[in-house]
Amino acid sequence: METMKKARTSARSAGRRTGGRASEASGPDVLSLLHEDHEKVKGLFAQALEDKTSSASRTKLATQIVEELTLHAKLEETLFYPELRSASKRDTEERENVLEAYEEHAAMKDAIKRLQRGKASPEEHKAKIQVLCDLVEHHVQEEEGELFPEARSLLGENELRTIGAKVAEAKTKAQSGSRRSSSSRRKISADGATSSRRKK
Ligand SMILES: [Fe+2]
Repeated sequence: METMKKARTSARSAGRRTGGRASEASGPDVLSLLHEDHEKVKGLFAQALEDKTSSASRTKLATQIVEELTLHAKLEETLFYPELRSASKRDTEERENVLEAYEEHAAMKDAIKRLQRGKASPEEHKAKIQVLCDLVEHHVQEEEGELFPEARSLLGENELRTIGAKVAEAKTKAQSGSRRSSSSRRKISADGATSSRRKK
């Protein structure tokens, strides 16, 4: 707890130190962290869309893809895009690109809802994954090809590292939270199995 408090304080003070002058932030910059997420999700899509993948494995992979994308989008929307948006001037290509990125996330979330909604045959399920994959591929191309270079020149290396520290901290927190809830779900189901055995 103390360590997390310290990490938060140091991320905040690193934020105050920035503004393109100081160069004290360390660790990976936000762009490399986001690139790692992109590569990971690309790999998951490739596995999910392989013909030889069974529909049971495809369903598991789709769940993992949705979890990865949901967290990735949340981190970008709360920690990265707002900084980029405020650093870019009105009516510039940079501002247009960041607004476009929000819209692409909205389209991605709709495709996720369609993927999760109701029953679909294995063929339909694969088609929904393919559509989500196409949207994500396009979004990644735009981000890495245009938005990331713009972020590098608008925010500068130090600010990118400061945001990177915030992203890494928020990601660890979210992932440990989701591990805790899935282990308590396992505990509940184990307890349920015990009590149903006792009833017999
Ligand atoms: Fe992204």
